[in-house]
Amino acid sequence: MGKKIRFNKLGGEIEFSYIFESADILSLEIQNKCRRQGIATTLILNMENFLKKNGVSFIFLEVRKNNMPTLKLYQKLNFKIIAIRKGYYSSPKDDAIIMKKNINFI
Ligand SMILES: CC(C)(COP(=O)(O)OP(=O)(O)OC[C@H]1O[C@@H](n2cnc3c(N)ncnc32)[C@H](O)[C@@H]1OP(=O)(O)O)[C@@H](O)C(=O)NCCC(=O)NCCS
Repeated sequence: MGKKIRFNKLGGEIEFSYIFESADILSLEIQNKCRRQGIATTLILNMENFLKKNGVSFIFLEVRKNNMPTLKLYQKLNFKIIAIRKGYYSSPKDDAIIMKKNINFI
C-alpha cells in the first residue's frame, strides 16, 4: 500500500499515501472554527511539495458529489474530475467524484 503520511497544521490535518508515481488523499479535515482561513490550501500545497520531492506525478482523491466546499477547494487548486462512481457512498447515499492532479509535467 506504499507509505502513509499525515501532515498537521494548527486546526486541521491531511492524510495521504503514495507509491511510485502515484498518491492518494485519504482524508482532509479542518476544525469548524478554523475554516476559510486557507489552512486546507496550505496543507495541500505542502503535501504537493513533499510528493514532488519524492518522485510522485499524480494525486488522486474521491469526494462526495454533495460535498460542495471540498469540490470547490480542489477545483481551485486545479484538480480535475476524471470519473464519477454512481451510488458509491451509502448513508447518506451519494455518488463519488474522482479527481486527479498532475504535479510533474516533465
Ligand atoms: C473542505 C475543507 C477541508 C476546507 O478547508 P478550509 O481550510 O476551510 O479551506 P480553505 O480556507 O483553504 O479554502 C480554500 C478555497 O476552497 C473553497 N471553499 C472552502 N470552503 C468552502 C465553503 N464552505 N463553501 C464554498 N467554497 C469553499 C473556496 O474556494 C476557498 O477559497 P476562498 O476562501 O478564497 O473563497 C473544510 O471545510 C472541512 O474540513 N470540511 C469537512 C471535512 C470534509 O468534508 N473533508 C473532505 C472530505 S474527506
